Parts: sequence; C-alpha cells; structure tokens
Amino acid sequence: MKHYAVFGHPVAHSLSPRIHAAFGREAGIAIDYQAIDADVGSFRARLSEFAVRGGAGANVTLPLKQEALALCADVTERARRAGAVNTLVRNGDDWHGDNTDGEGLVRDLTGRHGLDLRARRTLLIGAGGAARGVAPSLLDAGIGDLYIVNRTSSRADALADLLGQPGRVHPRHLADIGTLGEFELVVNATSAARGGAMPVLPRSLVGRRMAAVDLNYGEAATPFLAWGRASGAYAVVDGLGMLVEQAALSFARWHGARPETDEIYGELRAEHAHLVTAD
Ligand code: ATR
Repeated sequence: MKHYAVFGHPVAHSLSPRIHAAFGREAGIAIDYQAIDADVGSFRARLSEFAVRGGAGANVTLPLKQEALALCADVTERARRAGAVNTLVRNGDDWHGDNTDGEGLVRDLTGRHGLDLRARRTLLIGAGGAARGVAPSLLDAGIGDLYIVNRTSSRADALADLLGQPGRVHPRHLADIGTLGEFELVVNATSAARGGAMPVLPRSLVGRRMAAVDLNYGEAATPFLAWGRASGAYAVVDGLGMLVEQAALSFARWHGARPETDEIYGELRAEHAHLVTAD
C-alpha cells in the first residue's frame, strides 16, 4: 500500500485524512493517509522519514507551503506563480511540487456555486500564503481588475509584482479600502479571524450581485461571511468547498483520476451547518 499524508502545524484537526479516505473508498483504492505534525524547523526531517517509509505523496498546509516549494526538485508553473506548494509527488529520489489551491477555489466557485467569474471587479484582502495561492488562478479564470489590499502594504506590492500584470492588478493599503469603489467579488484571504478580529470593511465595497468568499471555513470564516450577509451580498461562500476541490485535484495527481466530490462535501457541509451556511 502506498502512503500519503498531510504535513502542517497544527494539523491534528485537518479534514484531509477523512476527505482522502472517502475518495479512496469511492475509487476503490486502498490508501493510507495520515496527518503528520511538523513545523518549519522539523519539516524536512519529517518528510525524509516519510519518504523512507514509502511515502508517495503529501499535502502541505500552514505554515509549510513556501518551505515545500523550496525543497522540491521541480514544480509546476502554477506552483511557481503562487510561490507555494500544497501537493508533493514522489518522483524517484525527489519531490515534485504542485499547487491545487487556486484551481480548487475556482472549481468550487464556478462549478458548485455556479458563479461566473469573468470580468468581475475583484478585491483580494490579504497578501500572505493563502492569497498568493489563489491569485494566479483567479486571474486565469478571467476576473476583471484585481485589487489587493493588505495591512502591510509592502506585501501587497510584492504579490502584485509577482503576478506581473500591472495594468490589471492594483496593490493598495488596507487603510485605503474605503476609497476603492464597488466590487463584484471580495475574497478574504487573511488569517485575521483566526488570531484576532477581522478588519472593519465598509459597505461601499458591495457591488450589485457581489460574491463574498472566505478561504477559511468554520469559525474562522464566520465574521467575514456575517459581514457579507449583512451587507446584502448575493452569494456568500466559505472555504469548505475549496478544501474538498483542492484535495480532489491532489488525489488526481497521485492516482490518475479526479474523484467525485459531492458526497464528502455534503457530509462536511452538514456538520458545519451550525457555523455557516454557504449559498
Ligand atoms: P496565510 O498562509 O494564512 O495567508 P500568512 O502568510 O501569515 O498566512 O498571511 C496572513 C494574512 O492575513 C496576511 O495578509 C496578514 O496581513 P499582514 O501581511 O499585514 O500580516 C493578514 N492578517 C492577519 N491578521 C490580520 C489582522 N488582524 N488584520 C488584517 N490583516 C491580517
């Protein structure tokens, strides 16, 4: 049996082992998928031990996605553009890196939630790892202008530079958020609600048929989604569907076929219904 795992810190509450077990059952593939706790300092050693034990593939979550990029012998174009790896594939004695987060988000928004992203004037709040992971895919999906706001404006500038589309991507300081006009898609890619409080977001951001999307799920998504609902957003979406879709894309990299995602998504959604209701 081949071994798979998710590495992160903390990782004990990761839903990935459950999601991959469900995919394996559905595909008729016996897989062993575990959660392995590793911080930045111990990641390389834990991953080497895993490879020695027959590790064939891994997911990488916070705070290891940039470190994962650095240790890969080669990476896909989308991982390079995101500056982060969430999927590792064992290739001989090396690791090959990919990033399925952005495509996972786009699949969830367009496929599951039926949103047409094309030409949407978009606001991305945050410029850390999560924002970097999804920005290239949002641009590729055909959104209109992309405004990136961040508390530390130099990080918004750096992300905009990395994306390399100066006519279309506009970095701004979070403090100027009230001057940016209306948006049709607002994506919360900050970790603010995990550690403290979400920044105050003005109602002036809310355009007609605006979708409010949080890359977090569970309690960490509650404040932003509450803002979206209270502001009259047309669609309010948390990160649970993205989590399932990025997992399915990782599964496809390892096993050659993308699994059906509706059943496990439905199960997880039912369990999270007391926290959020995504439309
Ligand atoms: P992740 O991988 O989850 O994106 P990260 O790389 O540490 O984690 O990035 C966290 C993001 O949330 C950053 O954009 C951060 O802003 P800074 O770059 O200014 O630190 C943002 N963030 C975290 N707490 C915040 C808060 N209380 N208010 C506003 N932004 C916050």
